[in-house]
Amino acid sequence: RIAYVNGRYVPHGEACVHVEDRGFQFADGVYEVCEIWDGYIVDMTRHLDRLARSLNELQMDWPVERRAMESILRETARRNRVKKGLVYLQVTRGVARRDFAFPKTPIPATLVVTARSVPPGNAVKIGEEGIAVVTTPDIRWERVDIKTVALLPQVLAKQKAVRAGAKEAWMYDKDGFITEGASSNAWIVNQDGTLVTRPAERGILRGITRAAIMDFAAAHDIKVEERPFTIDEAKAAREAFITSATMTATPVVKIDETPIGNGAPGSVVSELRARFHEGVE
Ligand code: PDD
Repeated sequence: RIAYVNGRYVPHGEACVHVEDRGFQFADGVYEVCEIWDGYIVDMTRHLDRLARSLNELQMDWPVERRAMESILRETARRNRVKKGLVYLQVTRGVARRDFAFPKTPIPATLVVTARSVPPGNAVKIGEEGIAVVTTPDIRWERVDIKTVALLPQVLAKQKAVRAGAKEAWMYDKDGFITEGASSNAWIVNQDGTLVTRPAERGILRGITRAAIMDFAAAHDIKVEERPFTIDEAKAAREAFITSATMTATPVVKIDETPIGNGAPGSVVSELRARFHEGVE
């Protein structure tokens, strides 16, 4: 495997950043994960638009020009021969003596890109079986709309899920409304077939897959309601699912100990999942 680190393509095992990198010391950085499908980077424009926003919110510049970033993503995928899989990019503020405030003199940002194949068999099995999720309080900061590498609350949430034999954790706010998954957006399907998901204000990350599902819904006369929903409403829903670049649309068949619907993937999410890659090019 090959990784891109600050202008160089290097063997993955030797790909390193400095001990004083601000990403390492302060989680002072942002990232994106894009799906690769048939060799194409899915929704790259939207991912790079979101990256631009994240960088801007942290008062960081693009580490390379946007065009160059596109080339690096494609080249990293190509060098790793990824036809179906993921490309990961991370930008940190760079390397400087440890000091909380930004370095006074400008320093070059750190840019790292990796890519890997994901065996297609996994996706088939997950689509057929669905996943279980557990609920856990959302203990994150208020700027979860920025895709930063400060992910410790999500790490702990995901570990709680894994310990319970589940694949994702759904976090809930102090009023008992679901915010989102540890690394995905959360959806339910009403009894009348309407998709319900939380509005993308500051309480969640504005998922790119979420936007793609909304486009699909609009084009196929599927109703979408953007509003918060509670754990109880989710448990009583006809269907539930998550969306992310790594999971497309994935059926949720159990929340905590409660089976959703008849405990098997529902027809709405199964259709969304089956047709997700229509028109990817
Ligand atoms: N996570 N919400 C959170 C908190 C996320 O971390 C993610 C993505 C999403 C879904 O966004 P998108 O559809 O753009 O992937 C929502 C990525 C996949 C990750 O951290 O691995």
